[in-house]
Formats: sequence, C-alpha cells, structure tokens
Amino acid sequence: MQRLYQHSVCHRLLRWQLRLLSTVARSNEDGVDLLPKMPFFSHIPTPYGGPSASDILKRRKVYLPTCLGPFYTHPLNLVEGKMQYLFDENGRRYLDAFGGIATVSCGHCHPDVVEAIVNQTRLLQHTTVLYLNHAVVDFAEALAAKLPGELKAVFFTNSGTEANELALMIARLYTGCHDIISIRNGYHGNATSTMAATAQFFHKFNVVQTGIHHALNPDPYRGVFGSDGVKYANDVQEIIDYGTCGHVAGFIAEAIQGVGGVIELAPDYLPAVYSIIKKSRRTLYSR
Ligand SMILES: Cc1ncc(COP(=O)(O)O)c(C=O)c1O
Repeated sequence: MQRLYQHSVCHRLLRWQLRLLSTVARSNEDGVDLLPKMPFFSHIPTPYGGPSASDILKRRKVYLPTCLGPFYTHPLNLVEGKMQYLFDENGRRYLDAFGGIATVSCGHCHPDVVEAIVNQTRLLQHTTVLYLNHAVVDFAEALAAKLPGELKAVFFTNSGTEANELALMIARLYTGCHDIISIRNGYHGNATSTMAATAQFFHKFNVVQTGIHHALNPDPYRGVFGSDGVKYANDVQEIIDYGTCGHVAGFIAEAIQGVGGVIELAPDYLPAVYSIIKKSRRTLYSR
C-alpha cells in the first residue's frame, strides 16, 4: 500500500515536472555551460564531514517509513542553508525556489531568527501553557496586531494539518453542523478530517472520511466551465441544496492550489462561494 502510494505520488509530481532541486546536466556535448552563472555570494559553507548521500539514503530506507521516501533516484544531500541559497555535501550552491515547501519565508538561517532561537533555547526550552511565560503571549499579541476585525485570539499549532483540523473542528462546533465543502484537487493535510477534505486520490487512504462534499474544481485551464468562477460556485449551492440539510459548517479551499499543481482558482469564484456559504447562515473558513 505504501509503495503504491509512494509510486503514484512520484508519478504525478514528475508528470507535473516539479523537478525543483533536481540535478540537471551542466553542459552540452561541446562542453558549453547550460546553466546560468550564479551571482557572487560571500558566504562560504562549513566543510562537510558527515555521512554521504548514499549512506543516508540506505539508512533512511531502514529507519524511516517508506511513505517519506525522497522524490528522486539521486536526491541532493542538503547540509547548509544561507538566506536564499542551499549547499550540498560538496559545497555546491543552489538557489532555493521552494523554501521548504514554502515554509521558510524569510530565507535560511536568517541571523535575527537564529539569534531569537538561540537566546530562548539557552534560557528555557519547554514547559507548558499551564504556567506563565511572556514569549507565547508576546508572539500572539504581535500576530493579533496584524489580524483583521475582532480576530484577537491565536491558537498555535505545529503543522498545516493540525491548523486545518482545528479550523474544521471549530467550524463544526460553532455551527452545530457536520457538513463541510471543499474542492476537488485540493490538499489540506493527512489526518482524519483534513484527509477527508483533501481531494486527490494519491493523498487519501481507505479509511472512514465523513461529512465532506467535494465541489467542482474551478480550474481555469482544465475545468468544465473554463474561467467562469460563478458557474463553478453554483455547484457549491447545488451541493448544499441536494447533499446536505441545507446548512453547512463551512467551506475550505486553498486560494491557490499548491500540491495539486499550483492552480489559481477561476476569477470571482471565492467571492461567489463566500456569499453562498454566508447565506446558508453558517461560518466560512479559508486557508
Ligand atoms: C494547502 C496545504 N494545507 C495543508 C498542508 C499540510 O501541512 P503539513 O504538512 O504541515 O501538515 C499542506 C502541506 O503541503 C498544504 O500545502
């Protein structure tokens, strides 16, 4: 099962040519450079004395689950990062256009981030929210200052999956409804509710997944209604009318589908869905 899962993920991603950080030929048959020259960068990576890529790969196969397999036959062994660059075990530099699946948003090892982490780590690494510490409140307050309207309380989670599970749970508890609408080709995580909301066969296991309805994907390139966002939104209304008691707990979608191939939703889709969900007198959550 895991092999099948891994194989199909690799296959799809390769088909979409998500070959970020893959190794490519550096020169043609006549020895002419194919790759553009990297600009000067003053950082010199620390000489690497750790295990080789092949050794790591061999041990990963034994000690990590196969579903965490790398996407490449010869994956890079990335040993250091500095701002927008990554370095492999031989000190070769790569421009990182991926940022840890878009999670390293201010560059690798930004000095301010390193300093904050080191300072806190030296003082205190972990207690629990059962006691007081100013750091968590400082951070929540700083985030709240950027939130719109009355949104003030911050619930910290450890991953996208956890954040989305929480959002779905809050929507269900607040509205007293179980039904949620998500869109086909969306990805929302890999726990019970988020796997249900996810709508890509290669990211789903055959376990009970209830209360999610998958609406048509408003994909302006391949979708049945082209870029007519309002027509796709009508499908959401039909799902509410024909697939639920007339009310839903919420709607979840990526503003731009990421794992599904970097697809922007058709224009006017989200505002139209927003008013449909609002009319169903329940709550809207989006990510
Ligand atoms: C849109 C979206 N939602 C949720 C997740 C799940 O996040 P995590 O892997 O941190 O659980 C991802 C991960 O790629 C994602 O792209």
